Amino acid sequence: MTKRSATLIIDGQPHIELPMHSGTLGHDVIDIGSLGDHNVFTYDPGFSATAACQSDITYIDGEKGVLLHRGYPIEVLAEKSDYLETCYLLFEGYLPTADQKADFEKTIRYHTMVNRSMEQFISGFRYDAHPMAMLCGLVGAMSSFYHDSLDITNQQHRTISAHRLIAKMPTMAAMCHKHFIGQPYIYPDNSLSYAENFLHMMFSTPCEDYPVHPALTRAMDRIFLLHADHEQNASTSTVRLAGSSGANPFACIAAGIAALWGPAHGGANEAVLNMLSEIGDEKNIPKFVLKAKDKNDPFRLMGFGHRVYKNHDPRATVMRESCNEVLTVLGLENDPLFKLAKKLEQFALEDDYFISKKLYPNVDFYSGIILKALGIPVEMFTGIFATGRTVGWVSHWNEMITNAYRIGRPRQLYTGPALRDFPPIEER
Ligand code: CMC
Repeated sequence: MTKRSATLIIDGQPHIELPMHSGTLGHDVIDIGSLGDHNVFTYDPGFSATAACQSDITYIDGEKGVLLHRGYPIEVLAEKSDYLETCYLLFEGYLPTADQKADFEKTIRYHTMVNRSMEQFISGFRYDAHPMAMLCGLVGAMSSFYHDSLDITNQQHRTISAHRLIAKMPTMAAMCHKHFIGQPYIYPDNSLSYAENFLHMMFSTPCEDYPVHPALTRAMDRIFLLHADHEQNASTSTVRLAGSSGANPFACIAAGIAALWGPAHGGANEAVLNMLSEIGDEKNIPKFVLKAKDKNDPFRLMGFGHRVYKNHDPRATVMRESCNEVLTVLGLENDPLFKLAKKLEQFALEDDYFISKKLYPNVDFYSGIILKALGIPVEMFTGIFATGRTVGWVSHWNEMITNAYRIGRPRQLYTGPALRDFPPIEER
């Protein structure tokens, strides 16, 4: 194979040859690592055209609306797999055999309980603490409980930390919810599936069990599965950057949770429901759409648009199906809020501004509606996204540590003052 390179000429100076690399799919990359030797950096705030790492885990073709995990399309995984099997695939790199699948499920099942002190930790939060604030703290605090598995150079330690994170996230998320609504915590029930157990911990009380409808369990499992990984997004890149310093996995995932919280990322599902409440009525849709188009108004239609998908979000297509199923099972097709969401979706899909800018409903538009229909308070939505995404974060972290890596250290275009004298205080 011929070695390819790109040539850079700066102000007529001698050419700089930059090697190029090709992946199995996707754009080629120009390796600019040597540019610093030529006293020049590249500038790409927002990482629009910068690959920060090499990865085997997930591939996205935003133009075609393709999302592959280890080569398998997300639609196929949503149909034929389940969340825990997809976790195995993402972390280990291949689909499990029947025995491996059963072993993995058993391992996750038997790691679902959290240390009793976590309960005291949660009760220290104010009654109305946001679940994401609690989750950031709880996951960071896990590093204070599991000293037995913090050697990041040891693959066994990395694997057990990953299992603990995947298994305990639903328990901790449900505990945050219970604290938020002032109910006693419900312990995990190891006879239940992952998604069923989560709904049980969310909705059962010591007085009454919550019988979970199979269609709702399926929808919950799909929400976890569809959020499991998404390549080098803001929170995953945050986890990698934190991990590049050698920080322990719990600290890194806590950093990922913080990055996920913002409304431009995982916070969008919560923002969708808040926006629908603000719109209030179908007759107000045109007014809000006009606001979203107004360049001088910061308002955006939450749950629409994506940095990478410029055709459609394949996760949204699957989530839309689940959304319709859940609304039917729960008899909510005529609920005013859900009718409003459907009308908004239709309005935006037919509007020239949204069509020309390729702003389609994304996964968070539909997941927000499903979670609301399941009776989950909006404050919990992003914590549920975090629960599903934990496997993606920990898989990327593990991949980075397994391969050669250096501490992440971006450069900058400095625009502050040049060297100046320090004036004595009386002369300022
Ligand atoms: N409503 C109205 N206009 C929009 C929207 C929107 N939701 N999204 C983008 N635009 C416009 C934006 O004003 C800009 O217009 P112009 O070219 O005239 O300046 C153009 O579309 C491109 O927007 P951008 O901000 O440059 O795009 P981006 O790639 O930086 O941002 C995004 C992507 C997802 C942050 C953005 O579309 C957005 O804020 N959407 C709403 C929040 C949301 O739903 N986020 C969840 C993303 S999916 C879950 C996840 O993976 O995290």
